[in-house]
Amino acid sequence: MFIFRQLRDSSSATYTYLIGSRASRAALLVDPVAEQSPLYLGLLGELELNLACVVDTHLHSDHLSAAPTLIRHTGCLYAAGLCSGIGGADRQLADGDSLDLADLHLEVLATPGHTPGCITLLWEDRLLTGDALLIGSCGATGEPGGNAGTHYDSVTRKLLPLPDELLVFPGHDRDGRRVSCIGDERQGNPLFCGISRDEFMAQDRSQPMGERAEAMLAANRQGGGSVLRERSPVSPNN
Ligand SMILES: [Fe+2]
Repeated sequence: MFIFRQLRDSSSATYTYLIGSRASRAALLVDPVAEQSPLYLGLLGELELNLACVVDTHLHSDHLSAAPTLIRHTGCLYAAGLCSGIGGADRQLADGDSLDLADLHLEVLATPGHTPGCITLLWEDRLLTGDALLIGSCGATGEPGGNAGTHYDSVTRKLLPLPDELLVFPGHDRDGRRVSCIGDERQGNPLFCGISRDEFMAQDRSQPMGERAEAMLAANRQGGGSVLRERSPVSPNN
């Protein structure tokens, strides 16, 4: 009944997720990369899906969001986390919110730290964790508004207590690994397993941002959605 695709942008090692319904033909894309827009649009056409919404799990500094391009082509909604700093989002998603698009139902967990507005999406048996929790790792905390202690709390209090079998689909993996699960991350993620909050905060995980990061942050802050859109309205289910 549902379609789930994990799509990789190799230049930024970003994973984008396509979730679609064969019944309603509604689809959403999570963390799409601008350069891959033709791929997404082609895939949506091939699968006969209608893009209802783009979600960015946070303000990205390592790639340009495809949201503006996809909004222009499809008139889809745009959603991002409350406090993300992304302008023009149609929906600002807070902890505990639901995102309902036809028969697609996702739940929102606020998982700040890597950035103040990071969210994780729960859909069926899988978590789309953005940069909050990566496979055996997590996002750096050197980005604007990043906070190591908050990041530790998000992962250890919000994500790792979830059921073992929930699948973890990360926003990036430099080694090309695709999926983990909560049980494996709780038992084996070296950044959190047996590591106290103070120890985590003492690590210098503030990686220098790439030379294009400031430009990407500025462009991504513009977001899209309501500020870009001159289109006939799309009717979301919420
Ligand atoms: Fe990030």
